Amino acid sequence: MTLPDSAAVQAHIAAFEADLQAAGSPRDAQAVRDKYLGRKNGVVASWMQMIGGASPDRRREIGRYANELKQAIEARWIAYEAAVDSRARPPDAVDVTLPGRIPRLGHRHPLTIVRDRMEEIFTRMAFAIVEGPEVEDEWHCFDALNMPAEHPARDMQDTLYLAPPIRGDRDDDLRTLLRTHTSSIQIRYMRTHQPPIRIIAPGRVYRRDDLDLTHTPMFSQVEGLVVDENIGFSDLKGHLQTFLENLLGARTKTRFRPSYFPFTEPSTEVDVKCFFCPGDGCPSCKHTGWIEILGAGVVNPRVLSSVGWDPEKWSGFAFGIGVERVAMLVHGVRDLRDFYTNDLRFLKQFDEDFV
Ligand code: DAH
Repeated sequence: MTLPDSAAVQAHIAAFEADLQAAGSPRDAQAVRDKYLGRKNGVVASWMQMIGGASPDRRREIGRYANELKQAIEARWIAYEAAVDSRARPPDAVDVTLPGRIPRLGHRHPLTIVRDRMEEIFTRMAFAIVEGPEVEDEWHCFDALNMPAEHPARDMQDTLYLAPPIRGDRDDDLRTLLRTHTSSIQIRYMRTHQPPIRIIAPGRVYRRDDLDLTHTPMFSQVEGLVVDENIGFSDLKGHLQTFLENLLGARTKTRFRPSYFPFTEPSTEVDVKCFFCPGDGCPSCKHTGWIEILGAGVVNPRVLSSVGWDPEKWSGFAFGIGVERVAMLVHGVRDLRDFYTNDLRFLKQFDEDFV
């Protein structure tokens, strides 16, 4: 055998590559490898053996060439095996030993979570859940709720009217609009049912508001109405207190503040102790220590009369809660618009464990 030199190294590498190319089976390929790297008769091994018989000044040189050849062949063999391996297993083949890929589950929108939670609590309090149309007429949205034609809420500035007017089910021409509150559902329900009733009515409402931190032209409310014999303000207080403790926690402090709504008398707005400060005031509670959470009151006898129910016999209480407001409070969201821009980075923060 010729003594190893640089040219011999290159020649063997070239021969190895050609032999490997020509190999028709894994066994052939293994034989090609062994021809160079085999411990007994491989080229590298035979070069190593020469070291013993060579003159001292050649020994180093032979060792270096033997190593060079060994490393070159090994590297090519590894690359060859990897190529064969990937060809043998196409990329879409199933490797059952891989750990499963866990799909990320989506979840409900934060506003849906809040609304569902409210519905769940009221359902436990024996309320039925009802719905009404988003496209309303003036009578259901305003007149029947004791908001006469001159009421400021009926102004074009506040309400989104739809043209043209429709012929109402009371046979007069009515302007149609996008309902400004879910209170219109009270009227629809009372006109088609008989007392006693106990309902909540969740839904979207629309107002002519410009977008800002606390206003969007569309938002959601949950309306409530109880009508029965001998219902008074104490029933309202007891029900809303129970509801808010269930929604926000047993230690929730509430405050019933006198207010005014045309469809209730007396009327109240209910505040809860500020979530963001210890009670001494901050920007979120407008420095009062309290945050308004809903409007309510004893149903105005005129509302009962407008649907033909006898106000001498029946009485009730009603309330309206802003869904976004509750969600903002509980999660410390300061920009209402975040709920509607569908930015996943925002939405992902609210999982199913809300409240
Ligand atoms: N409709 C009122 C609003 O949109 C909320 C409201 C207040 C509803 C008092 C009621 C109520 O039923 O009794 O601001």
